[in-house]
Amino acid sequence: MEIKITRTAAPRPKPADPTKLGFGTVFTDHMFTMDYDVERGWHDAEIVPLQDLRIHPGAAVFHYGAEVFEGLKAYRTDDGAVQLFRPADNMQRMRDSAERIQLPDFDAGFMLEATLKLVELDQDWVPTTPSASLYIRPFEICTDIDLGLHGIEHARMLIILSPVGSYLSGGLNPVSILIEDQDVRAVRGGTGYAKCGGNYAAANRAAHKAEQKGYSQVLWLDGVHRRYIEEVGGMNVMFKVGGKIVTPQLTGSVLPGITRRSCIQLLRDKGFAVEERLISVEELMELLQSGALEEAWGCGTAAVISPIGSFAYQDKVLTVNDEKIGPCAQELYDTLTGIQWGRRPDPYQWIVKVPKKA
Ligand code: PLP
Ligand code: COI
Repeated sequence: MEIKITRTAAPRPKPADPTKLGFGTVFTDHMFTMDYDVERGWHDAEIVPLQDLRIHPGAAVFHYGAEVFEGLKAYRTDDGAVQLFRPADNMQRMRDSAERIQLPDFDAGFMLEATLKLVELDQDWVPTTPSASLYIRPFEICTDIDLGLHGIEHARMLIILSPVGSYLSGGLNPVSILIEDQDVRAVRGGTGYAKCGGNYAAANRAAHKAEQKGYSQVLWLDGVHRRYIEEVGGMNVMFKVGGKIVTPQLTGSVLPGITRRSCIQLLRDKGFAVEERLISVEELMELLQSGALEEAWGCGTAAVISPIGSFAYQDKVLTVNDEKIGPCAQELYDTLTGIQWGRRPDPYQWIVKVPKKA
């Protein structure tokens, strides 16, 4: 399918101080949109100036949460080029998420092409400042005008771009985590493995409570036993114990993170044993109490590697590695960001180059 391009007649100024970029509040000049209906399939693929959407208030996305999304980044290399990290994995995961919600399937290769075209057009927005990047947010919504609960017949796909700095305000400083023992984010058989808006809505109450108490993120326990560690708000989680790396296994209620997958490969290639298994909160508390937990960190696209300095569970607060970043998290951060920003070789072919502006 041809992607029609309409350039903006009024390009907006880039952020005045790119070192002060937060996360996800500034957007570039253009966006991608494409519509779906059962008769025609996907059609009208277009890149247009960024603009508000006209969507009927009866559209199912507003009522029943029929939405899935992705998050990936474009990085500026030292020689001025722009590149993406494992974008095909994001497109495949969005297909898996869409299948869970029964939003229409799409051609992942075409969505990658659309992403590359959009980033190519708006490449001047990719920050040149250290550790800043261009966050890419593809999403698919149900546009059926229907308050009944039926199979989806109309949908829209969009991609928007946002120059971003650190997701967590402290950057690489260790974060404090509250282990949530009341609300659950997901259950097996539910939508936990899918990247759909509803999962984040379900997380809001606990995340808000944690924020009010001064914690930066929530650690979720499994929804059945409220016992096994799943993941952090927007990150997967890893622990270093006795020289080995341990991370929760993917049980269906945890998001299969692309950063998680990349970390596991990098760690194994560096000679670490990595175990994907169930980890109970009691085991974690014992490891913390005895000092056997060497390091803990979260990993995700937005946050990259985020060392964890302390865990609070019920009435206990226990720290890890004197609330300092540990050598393993630092090494992972350096290797991952080295590959993403093109400062280290990419033996895995994870990088996809964005063509230079025509
Ligand atoms: N878990 C959740 C709930 C997330 O929102 C994210 C972020 O995308 C992750 C884990 C990490 O996934 P990825 O590394 O693919 O960004
Ligand atoms: C990402 O890391 O891309 C995410 O989607 C996490 C989100 C909570 C910002």
